[in-house]
Amino acid sequence: MRTKSYKHLFHIFGEKGWVNDPNGSCYYDGKYHVFYQYAPEYPKSALKFWGHTVSKDLVHWTDLGIAVKPDIDADRDGAYSGTAFCDDGKMEIFYTGNVKHPGDHDYILTGREQNVIYFSSEDGEHFSEKEVLMTNADFPKDMGLHVRDPKVWKENGKYFMFLGARSVDDHASMLIFSSDNKKEWKLFKEYTPSADLGYMFECPDYFNVDGINAIGGCPQGIKSEEYRFMNMYQSGYFILKDCGIDTTNENLENFVTQENFVEWDMGFDFYAPQIFATPEGKKIIIGWAGVPDAEYTNAKSLEEGFEHSLTLCREISYDKESKKFKTYPVKAQDERRASAIEIVNSGQEKTATLTSSFDLEVKADNNVSLEFGDLAGNTDLTFAFENGVATLRFLNDTGCGRDVRRAKLDKVEDIRVIMDESIMEIYLNKGEVVFTTRYYPNEDTITFKGTNISDVKAYSAE
Ligand code: FRU
Repeated sequence: MRTKSYKHLFHIFGEKGWVNDPNGSCYYDGKYHVFYQYAPEYPKSALKFWGHTVSKDLVHWTDLGIAVKPDIDADRDGAYSGTAFCDDGKMEIFYTGNVKHPGDHDYILTGREQNVIYFSSEDGEHFSEKEVLMTNADFPKDMGLHVRDPKVWKENGKYFMFLGARSVDDHASMLIFSSDNKKEWKLFKEYTPSADLGYMFECPDYFNVDGINAIGGCPQGIKSEEYRFMNMYQSGYFILKDCGIDTTNENLENFVTQENFVEWDMGFDFYAPQIFATPEGKKIIIGWAGVPDAEYTNAKSLEEGFEHSLTLCREISYDKESKKFKTYPVKAQDERRASAIEIVNSGQEKTATLTSSFDLEVKADNNVSLEFGDLAGNTDLTFAFENGVATLRFLNDTGCGRDVRRAKLDKVEDIRVIMDESIMEIYLNKGEVVFTTRYYPNEDTITFKGTNISDVKAYSAE
């Protein structure tokens, strides 16, 4: 029987209510700040606020409570997602104010407003008055009313803002505005890829890691395949070769294709990530450990009054061999390892009784298999790699309706599994492929059995 809470020890989450996208993530004035979409009264109300949490090391977080309320006309139905820009000394925030007019509307072409709103802070804790910078009237006429999630950056002395959009004829679209003063913006580029990226592009990003430029974002409406796009909506990136986002749309067509779209995470629960820099210039990605409109649930955490969390902070690096980005927990995550857990060798197998939160590392051979279950002998989930396919599979209701997720890769040499009460993150080859999933074990301990593994190290985590 489970007696412990499913609440997390080191993932960012809300003690009560609903959490989704990370927002405004940045390093400012000696601290990391991560805000997050937060509906404190969920399930009674889904109205979105911004929660706020700070950290010195990206692994120990202090929650400061609600930072942004939907309290002006232009955001009255939700303070939606946005980003922070800190390069000019202040913390400057750009986000989307969502408005829904009462009446008989589809809320796609009528009845909705999505406004770009600005505020700033000189200390990271007190915030200026909000200013509305753009409304739907400022967006191109061939866009519907879904235009949101501003990302702001500076390049060659100019400011740019990237917004994700849904065109009137239901195509995922990208809008880029430019400005000299961060307040007045004019359209710089409108780009609706000819590739099938579904009907909407949420949480757009433009970033550079190890000299490689990439467009990030969350297309909605791509058809699922056997080894890719298995979630309801996707989250990933397109690498741009030898150019930036200011290249011609004709050139972007070579890179912004379904084939070139790489998903950040192949698990059941990952969406809407943000990327921000450490003072040393390392790039960190943090995502929402959830997906909108998923067919599986979190009934077991909702019984405790909370739903969802963010993922761990993962450092991004460019892997020249695979020509993809790897994402792996920041080094400071190792500090969450507490006592070592005993590993038992029994013939071909290694077994252990793990704590409800743990950090497990193994070297893997071909046809590796890991099983997690309970003391009564039930297997809850298996993770296996065979013939170029990694498979994560739930065998019972500890996944609250989650079934199977797959990813293709050439080989698996090492695996790290980090469990935090009811979320599991599985990293293959130091982050070449990652699976994030909710997992609600039935007991306070988790049994482990591994085949074709060596050098097993396991720690309780806290
Ligand atoms: C992504 C998203 C964003 C939006 C926010 C609302 O999960 O739909 O596009 O700003 O969540 O909570």
